[in-house]
This record gives sequence, structure tokens and C-alpha cells, in this order.
Amino acid sequence: MSDLSNKHIVLGLSGGIACYKAAELCRALIKAGASVQVVMTEAAAQFITPVTLQALSNRPVYVSQWDGREPNNMAHINLSREADAIVVAPASADFMAKLLHGRADDLLSLMCLARPIQSVPLILAPAMNREMWQHPATQRNVTQLRADGAHVLDVGQGEQACGETGDGRMLEPEEILEDLVAFFQPKVLQGQHVLVTAGPTFEAIDPVRGITNLSSGKMGFAIARAAREAGAEVTLVAGPVHQATPRGVRRVDVRSALDMQAAVAQHVDQATVFVATAAVADWRLAQVATQKIKKDGSGQLPQLQFTENPDILAGVAQSERAQNGTLFCVGFAAESHDLLEHATAKRARKGVPLLVGNIGPATFGLDDNALLLVDAQGSQALPHASKLSLARQLVAEIARRRG
Ligand code: C5P
Repeated sequence: MSDLSNKHIVLGLSGGIACYKAAELCRALIKAGASVQVVMTEAAAQFITPVTLQALSNRPVYVSQWDGREPNNMAHINLSREADAIVVAPASADFMAKLLHGRADDLLSLMCLARPIQSVPLILAPAMNREMWQHPATQRNVTQLRADGAHVLDVGQGEQACGETGDGRMLEPEEILEDLVAFFQPKVLQGQHVLVTAGPTFEAIDPVRGITNLSSGKMGFAIARAAREAGAEVTLVAGPVHQATPRGVRRVDVRSALDMQAAVAQHVDQATVFVATAAVADWRLAQVATQKIKKDGSGQLPQLQFTENPDILAGVAQSERAQNGTLFCVGFAAESHDLLEHATAKRARKGVPLLVGNIGPATFGLDDNALLLVDAQGSQALPHASKLSLARQLVAEIARRRG
């Protein structure tokens, strides 16, 4: 199942240079499984042609409220009634000002005003020059549009087409897509604060070498994303990995197990859910060499002494907040065989209410996985699926257990 399958999106374009990004957004929505109906203002048609968007959406584009193609000549009614959401990207300063006043002198604003407000959400991706964005009139309009029920997305920051630099760029198409996918997810963790550890740790030997493992961090990042989609505040403590930060997630990068433990200690007091997916190194060097250990040609091997790393999860699980249920702890177990037996034993050893088992070698670095949830009641298999899909199912299970 694609993220937006069975969703019909009316994609509105108002006038702005970011219209060129709307073509990519249209493609991205369709790739994610949505059907897309494009509606443009006359100003938008100055920046990108309806022909381009018709070709990408595979549907005729609507620009005018006098378009006679609809049998009842009421495109604003018909198009808005079919939509699962209206997404205006770019939403110009002028268009937002217009919406605010309930004006309706072009098809797009007319359709936004005519939408069934309870069942068809309106999502706006603002795009404008930084001065226009910061202007009190625009900020006032954004506040009022939100109060009127519109979902106004963030703006991007950086170089602008006018040559200035600042806030006001339209989000990139993939960011808008991620926000839209999140928008449709059930908000089962609203009000919760989820702390996630992910990835491997790196234990230094000397300034240029270290010990690490093959954890990609993908499962933990998927859980952070799914928890955010479900409405939680999310802090993600990540070891050295090459994964993009999920939107809206606060990321804290760490290197060693001790760094990870310190970052967890710093954030765990605000958390109501702790999910430990990190593949924390079991041992670190007792003494890290301050200079590179040199091969001197004598054939003598370096004598490395190890010491055990703290068990971050077990430590958190013993805290008072975890013991009295204020903090719900979830552990992971990567095993190679006898998953149920090992996961059950690990749940008891770690002292956590929920332990999630997976077959490590079958999933390391991949985009899919299969999970076995073990709790006091027994076990439940989440069959083979993408890590994001499994993460969403796990989030739903956590939410159910949180009541
Ligand atoms: O003991 P083992 O490494 O198999 O346990 C796995 C679980 O414990 C995972 O949830 C992992 O994130 C967590 N863990 C931890 N700190 C460690 C070792 C494991 O938090 N030092």
C-alpha cells in the first residue's frame, strides 16, 4: 500500500516562482498513490503552464470559474466535494490574504471557500519573499487562517529566487509530501513525548580508528517518523548513521555508548515513551589512545583492553518513572534464531513491558523487516512489511498499551 493510495488531492497553485516545484509535488503525490486534480489561478499560469500540470496529473487543469466543462458549470462545488484534501502549494501572500477574507473572485479561492469545512481539510504551503513572510500582515493572516481551520505548513529557510536569504521559501516537494502523509495518519500519540535511540555506536580505539557495527538506524528512524506522524513530540538520539531526519523530529547526534547514555539521560525526564532500537556496542576500550597507534614493523600486536558499556535501556527501565508507569519502555532484540524464546528472556532481563524481536541478519540495512511483539500477555507477530509500515503498527500497539 502506498502512503496516499485511495486519496484524491486537489492541488491548488497560486502565483509565485515556487510554482515550478508544484510540478514535482504533483508527480510525488501520484507516485505516493494519490489521484491529483490541479486547479490554478491566472497568476500561477504565468509561472507554469496548465499543459505541464495536465500532463503530470493526467487530468484537465481548471483555471477559471467560468470553465464550462462541468455539466452544471459549478467546478468549485464539484471539485471540492471529491477531495480528501485541498493542498495549495504554493500559497502566495496574496492568496492567503484573500482566503482570510473569504473572498472568492477566482476558481481556487472560490473552491476553498465552498469546501465542506468539516470533511475536506485545507493545507497551505506558503511561499514568498522573506520580508513578505515576516510582515505582520502575513503573520496575522497565518494565525487567523489556522484559527479558521486551515493547516498552514512551515516555510523553508535559505536562498530565495529574489537573491535574498531567509524564511519564506516553499518547502521542498518531498517535505510537503511527508507532511501530507503524516496529516492522514491517526493521531494516537497526541500529547505523548517519545524518546528513541537508533543506529550503532562508535567506540574509539584511537583518534582514527574505532569499533562499530552494521546497524543502519532505519528501524529507529522509521519509529521516530511514525511517532511524529501519530502526533507525538519526538526526540531521536542517533548514533553515526546516514539517514535523513524525519520531519518535525528533534535529532541529537551521538557517537559512543557513553554519549548516547548522556543524551538519553538529558531527555528522558520529558519522555512518556522510550523506544530503544540502538545497537549499542557491548564493550568500549578501557583506555582510548590519544595518538594514532602505529605499526612499528616488529610484528607486535597492540594490546587492547575492553570494559563493558552501560545498558542504557535497562537503566532507564529501572527508573522510578518507568517503574510507576509514567514512562513506557520498549526494547528491541536482534536475534539470529529462536526469536520468541530469546525475546521473552530479554524482556525479563531488561525489565521492560514490551520487547520487540526481529531476526537481525535478515533485516540489517534493509527497508523491510518482520517483528515479534512480546509482553506480559504473550506474543504477537507483525508480518513482513516495510519498516515504516511496521513502525506505524508498533506505534499503534504502544498507543493501545498507553491507554
Ligand atoms: O542486550 P541487547 O543488546 O541484546 O539488548 C537490546 C536492547 O537493549 C535494545 O533495545 C537496545 O537498544 C538496548 N541496549 C541498550 N544499551 C546497551 C545495550 C542494549 O539500551 N548497552
